[in-house]
Parts: sequence; structure tokens; C-alpha cells
Amino acid sequence: MAEKPIRFYYKNVMADAIGPEHGVTTGQLNELARRTAPLIPEIKDEITRGRTYYGLLPGNLEIPKAVKKLVKEFKPRCENLVVLGIGGSALGNIALQTALNPYMYNLDKGQRKGPRLFVFDNVDPAQFGSFLDYISPHLGHTIFNVISKSGQTAETAAQFMIVQKMLELRFGQKKLKDHVVATTDTKKGTLRKIAVEYGLPTLEVPNGVGGRFSVLSAVGLFSAAMCGINIDRLLAGARDMSARVNHRDFFKNPAALNAAIQWHYYNRGKKMSVMMPYSYALKDFADWYRQLWAESLGKRVNLKGQKVEIGPTPVKALGTTDQHSQVQLYREGPNDKVFTFLEVQDHGRKVRTAEPPKCAPELGYLARKDLGQLLNAEKKATEYALLQDKRPCLTVLFPKVSAYTVGQFIFLYEATTSFAGALFGINTYDQLAVELGKQATYALMGKSGEYASGKSYADFAERIRAKTSIDRNFLV
Ligand code: PA5
Repeated sequence: MAEKPIRFYYKNVMADAIGPEHGVTTGQLNELARRTAPLIPEIKDEITRGRTYYGLLPGNLEIPKAVKKLVKEFKPRCENLVVLGIGGSALGNIALQTALNPYMYNLDKGQRKGPRLFVFDNVDPAQFGSFLDYISPHLGHTIFNVISKSGQTAETAAQFMIVQKMLELRFGQKKLKDHVVATTDTKKGTLRKIAVEYGLPTLEVPNGVGGRFSVLSAVGLFSAAMCGINIDRLLAGARDMSARVNHRDFFKNPAALNAAIQWHYYNRGKKMSVMMPYSYALKDFADWYRQLWAESLGKRVNLKGQKVEIGPTPVKALGTTDQHSQVQLYREGPNDKVFTFLEVQDHGRKVRTAEPPKCAPELGYLARKDLGQLLNAEKKATEYALLQDKRPCLTVLFPKVSAYTVGQFIFLYEATTSFAGALFGINTYDQLAVELGKQATYALMGKSGEYASGKSYADFAERIRAKTSIDRNFLV
């Protein structure tokens, strides 16, 4: 039987639900439709012509084929898979693993369908050092998947250098290829150069796919497939969603609707967009969304080159955890946010409560109840409470969390981002502002040579130090 699709629900942003001051009136929605509908064929066209290449990933059969070939080779001798990457080269991997494998996957062999998975997207020495102590005796059964489109990202490069040395000392340089899979640019870049030098097996980050849009390429698929996630179903879900986000009718197109509603609210002072999954499995997709939304939509200039300094701030929250941390602010603080809940209808298993202690009959209402029922009741309770305070609420409904529905969700949000970028009139696919910090790090870490014509890293480092060294006059 065909799996049920995810659905996008927007009744509770409408003026009928929260009043005309904060809600979307029918007239406004029709105006949004008028403005957004012409973008639908434009974005479809960009995708089919390969300009926004991420849109072609769900239909690309070569990538999963290459991934499965390496999985077949490495999985039988792999007990630990370690992903080294950051940003778009890590967040999708983490999100897929949390969504589609059990909570105790790493610790309980009985719950595992593949190697343990560790993803390092930071360079904290205490964290990484502790991991190295753990993994060192197990290197024989450990595979490192180093992911970097450029190969120059300081965090990933530094981690890789440590691992490379460790592996070479243990097994010799020639054996590096038995323990490292490099996922990088198809032809150029530092990691590609290293891979060629050491004969490392490689997977590709396709041309034209930015890190934050790369989860459905080998970047996300290799670790997923190694850990037993059905990548064919993931891609099938994305393919089915790609048909829905191409739908010419604005009112039947979940990405166009979602983007238009978000854009509408941004222009009306609700500049924060909170994603709140009521599912632990989906919690790291809120993190993935945060990067997708922030790097794609936070831009200084528009496509005409005018200074706009635009971009909604994505916020992550987790139901029910953050009900006890954020909801006070969400209800009584400034009405400057639009909320998106992720609601799961079937959590995949039932865990029932028992009878309450005899001395606590007031807990009787919880007796023999399923925790999923409680979780979903709390979602509705929070939504109701927010609506009472006229806060706009959207919901993405998951029949269940599966490779298929997660694939749909990924593509829905990637396409939503494309629509939102087009509405904001900005370049959705660059991230120029991230570069300065990367270059400044190189300078501070002593890189030699020039970062631009006539501008040396050494001088740059001096300027950075002048601005960021601690001035004792201001130290309390
Ligand atoms: O979305 C992006 O482009 C970034 O988050 C990159 O993925 C991140 O900076 C890592 O870059 P790289 O893959 O070149 O190491």
C-alpha cells in the first residue's frame, strides 16, 4: 500500500483563527497567491534546467548507485562510522540519523542495523580528545567519512589531519584508503587533491549544490545507507514532493503557500520563524532547517544590488521540552514570531503508563495512557494556548516518521526556501558572509600568502587582533 504523504496545514494563521490584526485575511491570501503563483513555473524551470541543481537530486540514480557500491565494500568491516564535516556537510547526516534510527542506536547492538555513527561538526578539543581516546583501540573497524566540498574548511581539515596521522601511525600510509572515504567536489579543491594523492575512495558533492542543499546527495546518503536507512525510500519521498511543489495552483502547492505565509509575516513584523517538532526523532531537522533558512535568506543586498539587510531568524524549539522553557515568552512576549509545529500521527510504538500510586489519585487522568497520546495532546494544548494570544501557527503533519516522509519533508523545505528567496528578491544560494570568518580564521592560524590581491594574511591577522584582543579598560 502506498505510504501516506506529509501535509501542510495553515488554518491557524488565518484571520478567522487569530483575528485580522495578526492573521492572514482571505484578501491577503489571494494577494499572496497572485504574487507567488508566477514564481512556480520559474522555480520549476530553474530546477529542470539544473540552475538550482539540488532539485535534480531526487531523480539522480547515479548517486545512490555510487553510494551503495561503497556501502557494500565498507559496511561488512565497519563497526564505527565517523563523519568529519560541518554546516551543510554534517547537519543533514545528524538529522537523518536522529529521525530514522532508534534513540539508543549507538549504545544497543540489538537496535543497530549498521555501524555506530559519530558526527563531528566542531573542533572542541575536550570533545574530540575524549572521542579519540575511545576510538583509538577500535581503529581497525572504524571508517572515517570526511565531507568537505572545498576541503579548506578549517574545522574539517584539522580533524582530518589528526585522524590521518593516527591511521598512518597504526596501519601505514598505504592503508589510509581502507579507512577513509572522502566526499568532496567532483574535480577541484584541497580534499579532492588529498584523495587523489592517497588513492582514497571518493563520493561527489555535485556541482551547483551548496552544503545546506546537499543532504540528498552522497553527503547525506552515505552515512544514512551505512546505518541501514532506506535511501531509495528517502529519495522516493523527495521525488513525490517535487511534483507537489511544482503544482501550478498556489493553493495546492505546500512550498509556495508556506513561503508566501512566512514572507507575509516577515513583512508584518514577525521576523522570527520557530520550528517546533513534537517528535524527538525530528528534533535535529529543526537544526537542519535553521541553517537552510538562515544561510539562504539572510542577505545584505537584493538581486538588484540594493542594500536590504533582510532575512527571517529561524528558531528551533522542541515539544514538549521547550514548553517548559520558551512558551512563556512565545505567548506573552512580543507577537513577532510565526510557529511551525511538526506533528506525528503515529509515533511507531506505544508506551503506556501504569496506574498511579494509590496516594496520588489526582494522576488518574494519566492512567494507562500512551505517551504518544500525551505528546500529541500537548502539541494541541500549546497550539491552542498560542492561538488564544493570537500567535500564528502552522503545522506539518507526518502520518509517521519514515524514510519516505522525511524525504518529502526535506524537499518541501528546500523548495520553500527557494520560493521564499524569490519572494525576498535575494540570491538564495550564496553565503558570502560566511567567508569573512573563514578567511579571518586562516589569518589568525598563521596562513601565509595573500587572501586577496596585495592583501596578506599576516596584515589581516594584525587588524583582527587590534579589534578583538581583550582591552583591560573594559574588563570587569
Ligand atoms: O551550506 C554551506 O555551504 C556551508 O554550511 C558549508 O557546508 C560548510 O561551510 C562546510 O563547507 P565545506 O563543505 O566546503 O567544508
